Amino acid sequence: MSVPDKHACIYPGSFDPLTNGHLDLITRALHIFDMVIIAIAVNPDKKPLFTVDERLEMIRASVENNPRVITDSFEGLLVDYARSKDVHTVLRGMRAVSDFEYEYEMTFMNRKLDRNIDTIFMLTGLRWLFVHSKTIKAAVKAGADVSSMVPEAVARKLIEKLS
Ligand code: PNS
Repeated sequence: MSVPDKHACIYPGSFDPLTNGHLDLITRALHIFDMVIIAIAVNPDKKPLFTVDERLEMIRASVENNPRVITDSFEGLLVDYARSKDVHTVLRGMRAVSDFEYEYEMTFMNRKLDRNIDTIFMLTGLRWLFVHSKTIKAAVKAGADVSSMVPEAVARKLIEKLS
């Protein structure tokens, strides 16, 4: 029996910015997949704090040039992007039941758009259950120290932008 020797997944998101919760998920995904493609979705309807280039730079600094991690961005549909990379697995993290409905809708929409692309979920590490990019930004704006919740490169950039 032949076993495929390369399994990759796409880990899509806004990553505005990357948190330790994301990083934990990436590290754990690398125990399952040979390759993780972190893909920032460019959404013209959203007003992110960081530009795509800034987000890519922070992610790259945080994954420390791991050759099994690819960082990228895409516009348009995730299924089109996945197909263009010839990758059939999308990875999403889930923190709590409150994430479920949104993830459920996205998964079914993606499945409707392309039945060959499947989404798998990993639960966020317990330590990072309450770490969310949105609340991190709000906390920094209000003067909180979030250095235990985000990678160093992100903590620095947050202070630069928001303090
Ligand atoms: O980190 P986020 O904001 O929860 O990530 C959401 C994301 C980027 C995965 C989702 O918005 C997405 O896949 N966008 C690409 C556009 C798309 O494919 N839409 C159809 C499926 S809902």
